[in-house]
Amino acid sequence: MSQLSGKIAIVTGGGSGIGRAISQSFASGGASIVIFDLDESAADKTVSVIQARGGKATFVKCDVSRADSVMEALRFCQSAFGQPNILVNNAGIANIGTATTTSEEEFDRVMEVNVKGVYMCLHHILPAMIENGGGVVLNMSSIAAVTGLKDRFAYSASKGAVQTLTLAVAADHLDENIRCNAICPARVHTPFVDGYLEKNYPDNKEEMFEKLSAVQPIGRMAKPDEIGKLALYLCSDDASYVTGQTYNIDGGYLNLRG
Ligand SMILES: NC(=O)c1ccc[n+]([C@@H]2O[C@H](COP(=O)([O-])OP(=O)(O)OC[C@H]3O[C@@H](n4cnc5c(N)ncnc54)[C@H](O)[C@@H]3O)[C@@H](O)[C@H]2O)c1
Repeated sequence: MSQLSGKIAIVTGGGSGIGRAISQSFASGGASIVIFDLDESAADKTVSVIQARGGKATFVKCDVSRADSVMEALRFCQSAFGQPNILVNNAGIANIGTATTTSEEEFDRVMEVNVKGVYMCLHHILPAMIENGGGVVLNMSSIAAVTGLKDRFAYSASKGAVQTLTLAVAADHLDENIRCNAICPARVHTPFVDGYLEKNYPDNKEEMFEKLSAVQPIGRMAKPDEIGKLALYLCSDDASYVTGQTYNIDGGYLNLRG
């Protein structure tokens, strides 16, 4: 039997990068996938790839930072497949800057998507999962939550919040059969990274790509499907004893030197 056979999984930001890989990995594990994403054409592409492989998936346009949008997307999930068993809070945005160079608008937007967006989904979707007998929540944090990275002031603050709210949810809803964990990746090669290079280093993208790859002791960035496989394990019954944990997946970044 497949690991997620019969499960219904909501994946936010499933249109691109890590969210797309998680959606594909869960679908190959037998789950029905509902993608909540702002980018309809990207989400549509993820759905097409999954369906072409015989999997079940659909998408709904959703801004995770808005309550009405999340509630409408949940109703869509319920009518398309039923009550969700799994929630992956993956949608997130990047930001470059220090405490002195980050504008108030930038700070607010990062918090709005990366923190309030996770809260919104938890606030509206957890009750449906609990009513349905429980389930699994997986939050996408970052190594920026556990180590000091230059020029990531707002982003680090947002991912630190994701990590600690993971503990709160795991504690608060343990008795309601909810497990909640977080993943902290180092750099993963996705459009998130390509967009960052394009915006900040338009004239020496390749050189910077190599530099960013070499930061990980393993000598490269992660591939999105390497995160997808860890997510599949954590959201399956194989991980039935795992809750309140943060999984670093970082090519040796945090623990290996030289
Ligand atoms: N790529 C990395 O190196 C890396 C490392 C650590 C953590 N992460 C985290 O992993 C997650 C996914 O990153 P990625 O690299 O796949 O990014 P990505 O930019 O490739 O994909 C993010 C997806 O989220 C969607 N999204 C953005 N704002 C949204 C909103 N308000 N509502 C709904 N959807 C929204 C986008 O449309 C996009 O499809 C993010 O939370 C990111 O912080 C990424």
